[in-house]
Amino acid sequence: MKELDRKRILVTGGAGFLGSHLCDYLLAQGHDVLCVDNFYTGTKRNIAHLLGHPRFELLRHDVTFPLYVEVDEIYNLACPASPVHYQNDPVQTTKTSVHGAINMLGLAKRLKARIFQASTSEVYGDPQVHPQTENYWGHVNPIGVRSCYDEGKRCAETLFMDYRRQHNLRVKIARIFNTYGPRMHPNDGRVVSNFIMQALSNQPLTIYGDGSQTRSFCYVDDLIQGFDLLMNSQDSVAGPVNLGNPVEHTMLELADKIITLSKSRSTIVFKPLPSDDPARRRPDIALARTVLGWEPKVKLADGLERTIEYFRQIQSDVGTNQGASARAALI
Ligand SMILES: NC(=O)c1ccc[n+]([C@@H]2O[C@H](COP(=O)([O-])OP(=O)(O)OC[C@H]3O[C@@H](n4cnc5c(N)ncnc54)[C@H](O)[C@@H]3O)[C@@H](O)[C@H]2O)c1
Repeated sequence: MKELDRKRILVTGGAGFLGSHLCDYLLAQGHDVLCVDNFYTGTKRNIAHLLGHPRFELLRHDVTFPLYVEVDEIYNLACPASPVHYQNDPVQTTKTSVHGAINMLGLAKRLKARIFQASTSEVYGDPQVHPQTENYWGHVNPIGVRSCYDEGKRCAETLFMDYRRQHNLRVKIARIFNTYGPRMHPNDGRVVSNFIMQALSNQPLTIYGDGSQTRSFCYVDDLIQGFDLLMNSQDSVAGPVNLGNPVEHTMLELADKIITLSKSRSTIVFKPLPSDDPARRRPDIALARTVLGWEPKVKLADGLERTIEYFRQIQSDVGTNQGASARAALI
């Protein structure tokens, strides 16, 4: 890479699942990366392989406090992402989304830097429109147990768009749908990690309902490609842009695939469907296709294979000399 093209890039939440893959990607592109994280849900294990890298720097910092650094671009990913994690300390979740956004936008304004926000499909709440396009305003409960995340992310989007209108800041908002892959948290309570953990220990896989409800899953490499395309798109493209995989799979299909790929002896058990479980959730990615030329490429079986391999590795590291960091990844 030419010296002129090399950028100093700040990644908040860089020790998390998506953030650590983004750090890998940006370093491979030849950029300098400053990873900022308070290790609330991220782990050192996710970035251990980068610690000696000459263009990588790690800073332990909570984004709810101001940050004074010099960078050319900012990716704001800091925020616990799974319901078990974000409901653990809901006040901190809202603070991270809102104060974190204010602090990072303030930094971007001072530096005249481009800034990317990792928003979420949860801004659509419990949607009454399927699939969701970006101009759907959502159906969100402001006072429920998920509101700290949903409303926090909605307020962050408001701040990003107001900084754009009021201060001409170059902002980019991605609405991320369900993503999976290596380094996702094994105990985050999500269906992919639950099924894989159950399959690897030959425990029955739990399906809620009859297993006919569908979900769509985006492999992490595809998503990071989408981040890059959005960040480097024309300034007129601020988003929000949906990023996710529109291909739907039933829960039964997912469970069968995971059992086969992991060569597990697990069976499947069925439990009653929780009342708030939506029958379908799927992104409309027409905008990403048109303005970014992006769509996911990795097949579910290939992505699952890589993810199963990662989880197998964590399990085998527990009890060896890698034990402490592997256990930390499992907590
Ligand atoms: N993974 C998905 O499917 C998904 C879907 C939609 C949106 N997102 C968004 O993408 C981003 C990354 O998600 P992820 O799946 O990698 O989650 P993650 O929990 O693995 O990563 C979040 C990271 O942010 C850090 N963090 C949390 N609060 C912080 C704070 N106050 N200061 C500094 N660091 C803090 C955590 O320690 C962690 O490393 C989040 O903003 C999330 O809302 C993810």
